[in-house]
Amino acid sequence: MRNELKVHAARLSRQPLKALSAARAGTEPLSAAGWKISLARHFLDTEAEQSLLDFGAEARLTKAAEALFGEAIVNPSEGRPALHWALRAPARLMGEAESVRQSVIDALEFAGKVQTGEVRTAGGEAFTAVLHIGIGGSDFGPRLIADAFEDLAHPAIKLRFAANVDPYDLDRAMAGLKPENTLVVGVSKSFGTEETLYNLGRARRWLEEKLGDDASKHLALVTANPDKAKAWLGGRAAYTFDMPISVGGRFSLWSAASLACMIYLGPENFRSILNGANEMDEHVRTAPLAQNAAMRLALLDFWNTSIREKPMRVLLAYANRLRLLPTYLQQLEMESNGKSVDSQGNSVAPPTAPALWGGEGSVGQHSYHQWLHQGSQDVPCEFILAPDYNRDSEGLDALTAHALAQAEVLANGRSIAEVRAEEPGISDAVAPQKVHAGGRPSTLFSHASFGPEAFGALVALYEHRTYFAGQLWGLNPFDQWGVERGKTMAGRIKAVLKTPEIAADPVTAALLKQIF
Ligand code: F6P
Repeated sequence: MRNELKVHAARLSRQPLKALSAARAGTEPLSAAGWKISLARHFLDTEAEQSLLDFGAEARLTKAAEALFGEAIVNPSEGRPALHWALRAPARLMGEAESVRQSVIDALEFAGKVQTGEVRTAGGEAFTAVLHIGIGGSDFGPRLIADAFEDLAHPAIKLRFAANVDPYDLDRAMAGLKPENTLVVGVSKSFGTEETLYNLGRARRWLEEKLGDDASKHLALVTANPDKAKAWLGGRAAYTFDMPISVGGRFSLWSAASLACMIYLGPENFRSILNGANEMDEHVRTAPLAQNAAMRLALLDFWNTSIREKPMRVLLAYANRLRLLPTYLQQLEMESNGKSVDSQGNSVAPPTAPALWGGEGSVGQHSYHQWLHQGSQDVPCEFILAPDYNRDSEGLDALTAHALAQAEVLANGRSIAEVRAEEPGISDAVAPQKVHAGGRPSTLFSHASFGPEAFGALVALYEHRTYFAGQLWGLNPFDQWGVERGKTMAGRIKAVLKTPEIAADPVTAALLKQIF
């Protein structure tokens, strides 16, 4: 099947993308939970699309969906199902999935009480600040939500984040906050992450210096490892919430890991995000392969990366609310599928997951878009056009025009003949510099009324796409052995930081001498 796909790719690569995509302009976009997704500007035609669908059927994507929603062990290396979808289920489930669902309800209830002032500071006041401490999957998602919907936040509640072990991050986050009215929310699924424990330790001391034993009334811990949390508390108390073990860190923004956001935005707004995600779950669970947006996007990733051998994908969020989405998706996709060995220990056929990077449109147009248009490598782009359409129309029209212009130029290019026709008298030296090669494919996502529901649906769509892409590459997207080695090595290097002469690696030893 790979060979068949390769033959299609070779055939299509000889055709101009402008012509190929014009022929596909009338194709219905994918449609899921209010999102419309156009794949018109890709090196695809009906035959290649059919072969991709056949490949998806052969890879048993529909069975993979059944396994995910049927609570099968889809994370074999850790022997667990992946139950992130249960976090946003609106109705009662069974067994472990129900306790996963319940964990969100508990956190939402608590958040509501903090917002209304029912849960109070040690001094009997309402909390006016929340300090979220976590890293990776225990940080990116809550940070993305808070940034996206800052305008829906409770006006009297400040929210700050600290993730980095660089002490400046926490110093910056705590600047201007007072322990007397701050709730510190520590999030760590493992409760063993160095950065988080370091920042939490400092934050706890900061609380204790002012509040003594009452610091426990200002501390909430969210974890799947309550024993470690208890040991860390050392007999002290704290509010504690469950981060279910069968929800991966990078799939956990729907969980109590977002307690700080639940407080900041209020349970109702947060519930809207969950509802949108659930709507996408229903689409992914029930839509047949050809109409299934997550499966089709996963197949597109396979097509562009493994068949057309494009090692990157660029995400261009034409919505200021989504400016942190590329960072969030980097972890979701690259920590999930940045792998080369399957669950049985066999090497899988390369290349696998692309590097994902990107940023906010139109801001990026004044930066790396130059590289996208005229750099020596062509990279598939993904436009997300979903601003609030009830805001100032002049800005919105410009935003829309810019997104569409970028996609058009990337695909269609600008020939030397066009340059000369549009700029008579242009010099022979400058004319070639104004040529755009074109042939750079893109996907365009749009939503007519973006808000918390649409946000939830979008992020859930990316989760499912990541899972299905993992299936196509033969990878387990729910583990991350690659990041563990760095942690072990950091521990070893920390032990010789001030004695470089005994460092195991000569370059590390030399670098230590250079640094200190
Ligand atoms: O960096 C790896 C990682 O294990 C991520 O997968 C995870 O999201 C992050 O660290 C934080 O882990 P924890 O929630 O256990 O502190």
